[in-house]
Amino acid sequence: MKILVTGGAGFIGSNFIHFVLQNTTDVSIVNLDALTYAGNLENLREWEGDSRYQFVHGNIIEKELVERLVSEVDTIVHFAAESHVDRSILNPEIFIQTNVLGTYVLLEAARKEGKRFHHVSTDEVFGSLASDEPSFTEKTPYDPRSPYSATKAGSDHLVNAYFHTYGLPVTISNCSNNYGPYHFPEKLIPLVITNLLEGKKVPVYGDGLQVRDWLYVEDHCQAIWQILQKGVLGATYCIGGNGEKENIWIVKRIIDLLKKDEASIEYVTDRPGHDRRYSIDFSKATRELGWQPTVSLEEGLEKTVHWYEENRSWWENVKSGAYKEYYNEQYGKRV
Ligand code: NAD
Ligand code: TYD
Repeated sequence: MKILVTGGAGFIGSNFIHFVLQNTTDVSIVNLDALTYAGNLENLREWEGDSRYQFVHGNIIEKELVERLVSEVDTIVHFAAESHVDRSILNPEIFIQTNVLGTYVLLEAARKEGKRFHHVSTDEVFGSLASDEPSFTEKTPYDPRSPYSATKAGSDHLVNAYFHTYGLPVTISNCSNNYGPYHFPEKLIPLVITNLLEGKKVPVYGDGLQVRDWLYVEDHCQAIWQILQKGVLGATYCIGGNGEKENIWIVKRIIDLLKKDEASIEYVTDRPGHDRRYSIDFSKATRELGWQPTVSLEEGLEKTVHWYEENRSWWENVKSGAYKEYYNEQYGKRV
């Protein structure tokens, strides 16, 4: 089988490529990535030159390129997106372009070829829960509240429309917050770990009592793989970690693991429209796919903190922009 992975140089995409190439012998991957600020080929250096792996530098809104690549594969697994809520608040346009228009271009190419399409989406499309409300399920109505989640909701609707209107063989996963290796240090967990390792303060938005349902990234990759094998066409699967914690709990746990001081915590102005709580009921995925998370939050946080301690040059080069300069020279300027 040949898979087109979009956004494979990002956090989850690169973990997915490692997962597939390590766990199979007969699957090859084409990684289409624009190498935005979030894309980093360093994540995949060990597969350079491997006959089962090919990198293509390009944007998912480039119709001709996308059509050619889609025609050469069996399946598309679509990760490419602008993914950070804070950036979407400052500059929504690129989110609309990549997340909505880019998904449309991919869907059109897939439609021409009748290709299997898996869309990697987020639980943020369901909006925000109060502390006493039940977890999101596949039946929860969409209620996105940030430009990021609105564009992901838009792309989910397009994917569903291509199933119902054109019979395109699609699936969607709506997953909770991931964490683990190669996570770009603008997101909460890698930001906290790397700031603490640098002796800097860690910014906590508002009262720090917002809740996220954390999932170790390898478990997410396993879920996507199971959906590709056993998912019902046209279905959506909610994927979560059983890992609901308040942000301040996460921050304090990382401080403990790194033997740092709570004086590093700095409460800062809250994010506008900050969603209070996300929580996922993944019982459908367990029932239909036999999937459930295998890495507890406690174990996953330890593994992740350890990874950042062991891979200091990776995140230092990401933070300083050194990798960006290097790959700009190789592939032309990043978008
Ligand atoms: P990321 O920001 O780390 O990586 C995104 C990748 O997409 C980068 O390599 C970037 O270069 C590439 N990209 C961006 N725009 C592109 C374009 N126009 N053309 C081609 N490539 C482009 O994101 P991530 O955290 O790995 O998230 C991957 C996907 O998973 C996204 O669709 C996101 O919405 C979804 N998701 C993320 C989480 C999470 O916790 N990170 C949770 C649920 C779902
Ligand atoms: P983030 O990692 O940006 O993911 P998302 O917004 O998609 O959930 O943020 C996770 C939570 O952490 C969210 O409630 C916002 C909060 N947060 C902070 O408190 N401080 C920070 O510096 C960041 C980046 C996030």
